[in-house]
Amino acid sequence: MQAALALSLDHGLGTGRYVPAKVLTNGDLEKLVDTSDAWITERTGIRERRIAKDGENTSDMATAAGRAALEAAGVAAADLDMIIVATVTGDSPMPATAVHVQAKLGVSNIPAFDLSAACAGFLYGLSIADQFIRTGQMRHVLLVGVELLSRVLNWRDRTTCVLFGDGAGAVVLGPADAKASAAEARGVISTKLFTDGSLASSLMIPGGGSQMPLSHHGLDEAQDKVQMVGRDVFKVAVKNLTSASKAAVDVAGLTPADIDWVVAHQANMRILTQVAQRLDIPLERFVINIERYGNTSSASVPIALDEAVRDGRIKPGQTVLMCALGAGISWGSALVRM
Ligand code: ACO
Repeated sequence: MQAALALSLDHGLGTGRYVPAKVLTNGDLEKLVDTSDAWITERTGIRERRIAKDGENTSDMATAAGRAALEAAGVAAADLDMIIVATVTGDSPMPATAVHVQAKLGVSNIPAFDLSAACAGFLYGLSIADQFIRTGQMRHVLLVGVELLSRVLNWRDRTTCVLFGDGAGAVVLGPADAKASAAEARGVISTKLFTDGSLASSLMIPGGGSQMPLSHHGLDEAQDKVQMVGRDVFKVAVKNLTSASKAAVDVAGLTPADIDWVVAHQANMRILTQVAQRLDIPLERFVINIERYGNTSSASVPIALDEAVRDGRIKPGQTVLMCALGAGISWGSALVRM
């Protein structure tokens, strides 16, 4: 089974991250909206999140994370064949944020595009990059998950503004060692992607697109800000993250016992706990940083991955399961041997 799956990571794994320096604590939020540190901590597990400073843009954060990943991978920016930026909070509606990242990295004449799958964006990008590398069309792909959610939050809405934070995570992918045996081969083993568009209205930014261009009235109504029916998303998240994770493990002929680490989207500690129970994987094998960053959407999985790689928790040769779900509703999973 495994031999049939081409692998697509080399140089070890090149990971990187960038988070803004400014910390916004639950205590700070108590001064903005009718909330409490106790409610946020108990209901979500979040204690603080990072907020980009004025003048700091999505492409700046993405470039910083990308540079860190390139350095870790030992790949020069000039050797990239493609740049994918997963984000729903790009610098502007047009052009893609990836083009600014490309320019800031000082490269040109390679495809650079954005991918919109909200919190699942990094896993969508991982799957796309994997396909290009498996087919031999691309050799080195920079994939960044980045969000500047603090600028699209309604800071008067306590049901959303306490949940999210800013940040960027990145990986560099390249062809796997073709000579490695199936047992030793490193890289992407499987990816699974899903979307249920019938649930689109449960999590959205309704205004600012072609359907509802920005107007004075729309701005007054905060139509350019995140709206979410949190309870509905919660139920779907537990169910779908579990089933997608099982699917990625099953297709590789493995079982949950074979998983060394789970890097799941950091949306809510209670979601992570329930997914861990349903997968029968101890929570100790989950990489968790939600208490420090909150929900950073498409940046959440690569930031957690980078932290665990750099602090030595995730070791070469270990099997890592990733899963994420967000607006769409879109979700996905990936199994990677590091
Ligand atoms: N402080 C205090 N009270 C609050 C707050 C707050 N910040 N927010 C909501 N409440 C209140 C509500 O008003 C409600 O009060 P009521 O009972 O008097 O009406 C009560 O708390 C319970 O509200 P619920 O919405 O039922 O709270 P719940 O336990 O479901 O937690 C949460 C809400 C944290 C949003 C949870 O539903 C969740 O995590 N949902 C999933 C989020 C997610 O995974 N999103 C996907 C990714 S995001 C992306 O794609 C960009």
